[in-house]
Amino acid sequence: MRENLHRIGLCHLIIAASFAATSCLAADADQGETLARRWCTGCHLVAADQKAATTDAPPFASIAQRPDFDPAKIEFFLRDPHPKMPNMTLGRSEAADIAAYIATLK
Ligand code: HEC
Repeated sequence: MRENLHRIGLCHLIIAASFAATSCLAADADQGETLARRWCTGCHLVAADQKAATTDAPPFASIAQRPDFDPAKIEFFLRDPHPKMPNMTLGRSEAADIAAYIATLK
């Protein structure tokens, strides 16, 4: 009995670890769009079908079109709350997903 419980615990650990590894490698732009529509539309234009954003925050499409655009930089930026934004504490894979989504707006 003890032995069995131990095995199950170990198994979960391995599954959890491999999930973390895959979400690290493959950013998911669709998931990023969902997150962006949920968290960012208050200030940013996040998609072409959105009517209006209310502040001076740059539209995501124009961020994507900057000559120095780099998804890795966006991800890094998002992991550190920007001064005028509420602290949204995005996880690492969430930040990567949103960066991947912004990259599709090029
Ligand atoms: C409360 C308003 C607000 C919300 C909500 C908000 N932002 Fe911003 N964001 C701003 C403003 C204002 C700027 C421009 C000034 C600055 O950089 O602080 C900005 C700038 C940015 C930039 C450009 C940084 C650069 O390099 O110039 C990115 C990328 C960005 N936001 C991403 C996001 C994402 C992704 C979300 C949702 C998870 C989000 N923002 C939610 C207000 C907001």
